Amino acid sequence: MEGIIRQGLTYEDVLLVPRYSDIRSRRDVDTSARLSRNIVLNNPIVSANMDTVTEADMAIAMARAGGIGIIHRFNTVDQQVAQVRLVKRSESFVIENPHTIAPDETVGEARALLEGHGISSLPVVDDRGDLLGIVSSRDILFVHDDSGHVRDVMTPHSRLITAPVGTTISQAEQILQTHKVEKLPLVDQDNHLMGLITLRDILKLRLYPESSKDAKGRLLVGAAVGVVGDYLERAIELVQAGVDVLVLDIAHGHSENAIRAVRELRSRIGSTDLVAGNVATSQGTRDLVEAGADAVKVGVGPGSICITRVVTGVGVPQLTAVLDSAREAQRFGVPIIADGGIRQSGDVTKALAAGASTVMVGNILAGTRESPGVVVMRNGRRFKASRGMASAEATLQRRMREKPGWEGETDLTDIVPEGVEGLVPYKGDVSDVLVQLVGGLRSGMSYLGARTLTELQENAEFVQITSAGLIESRPHDIET
Ligand code: XMP
Repeated sequence: MEGIIRQGLTYEDVLLVPRYSDIRSRRDVDTSARLSRNIVLNNPIVSANMDTVTEADMAIAMARAGGIGIIHRFNTVDQQVAQVRLVKRSESFVIENPHTIAPDETVGEARALLEGHGISSLPVVDDRGDLLGIVSSRDILFVHDDSGHVRDVMTPHSRLITAPVGTTISQAEQILQTHKVEKLPLVDQDNHLMGLITLRDILKLRLYPESSKDAKGRLLVGAAVGVVGDYLERAIELVQAGVDVLVLDIAHGHSENAIRAVRELRSRIGSTDLVAGNVATSQGTRDLVEAGADAVKVGVGPGSICITRVVTGVGVPQLTAVLDSAREAQRFGVPIIADGGIRQSGDVTKALAAGASTVMVGNILAGTRESPGVVVMRNGRRFKASRGMASAEATLQRRMREKPGWEGETDLTDIVPEGVEGLVPYKGDVSDVLVQLVGGLRSGMSYLGARTLTELQENAEFVQITSAGLIESRPHDIET
């Protein structure tokens, strides 16, 4: 044991010193950030891979706002893959494999497919893949006999507007406008259906100009994997489903298990970026980077639902963990994700100024409309559930899923929870929460004369404050 005990600091222990700024408006700063070696986001916010935070709805909202969501792994492989597919299909320049229907299917089947996939139309194709028509929900709205055939209610090929493969977005926009139609099937010379462009997707491009997209115009999404059990199969299926980044996420990322899993995944997932964590030290960061991580997730015990530090006595206050890890990661050109403990927008500014490239947030997003779970009422106020992924309840559920038939006959004292569960106030739409979070960051950057997040780090000077300073920083001497 070393004799000298270092001091560890967290966000509330410090403030950033303001400096000369020629930035006139917070709109003039650029918040684009590297999530990992090859992925850049417009906003440095990542939603946590927790089952009360990120499934498809959250990931879609996060990517539309310029961040990204990481789908949690506390489900079966099929369930997690389905969530990733929902995000990847939610919008794109061209839908490459649109859902289709055969002409001899029934109206009832068409209705079920449209409703089941949440879409408004289906191209009708024969068994060779030739385009025969389109059937839309409008076509069958007033058809009461569900046993009729699709071929009798569809808009036939002769009345369709189609375009060749390779049609650009602006050409498609022109065609849709000229012909006043909403769907543009793409076909090859032999009239095989090769894709679909929809007005809805084109409008979304305008509605969400900041959104995080891949080369095909699909929203970016990440997904978490563990280090044992089905993790390799899970990772490979997620990659096949189009996931943009995998997050290897375990409580103690600086472990033989994690490093072995990073190496194994790195050799199996091709060019997909791999984030690994969680660590809280420079040595942990270096070991994960050397094993092949494209970004390192930092945070041991700072989270709102964490009790790791109380249960185990282990952890590093988050600002110190980020400072130490970021200094090391910078030598390798690898970004850091500051995970956990972000309670307000000022903490985002501090985490990024300390060297993180992005922040991962759980609690702040747990009570939003897009988080999984239902709204509950308590004393006339609305709440949603939030729970640690190492809480007793979550651990028990995971064991029951992994070992079907296991009904808790094992001694329950076997489980030592490192997380808690509880309620958080309902906060409405994710987009509104993010406007405040990113707005605070933008203002913080302008106080430091920083037009980019790199300049924020260059210009950052922290002062440590006292408990009196903390009282002064918060609203005081007023009833709120
Ligand atoms: P916030 O503060 O944003 O933190 O809610 C979210 C992060 O907390 C971590 N997490 C846990 N840590 N026990 C822990 O020690 C748990 O049960 C637990 N569940 C989540 C995780 O890193 C998440 O992103």
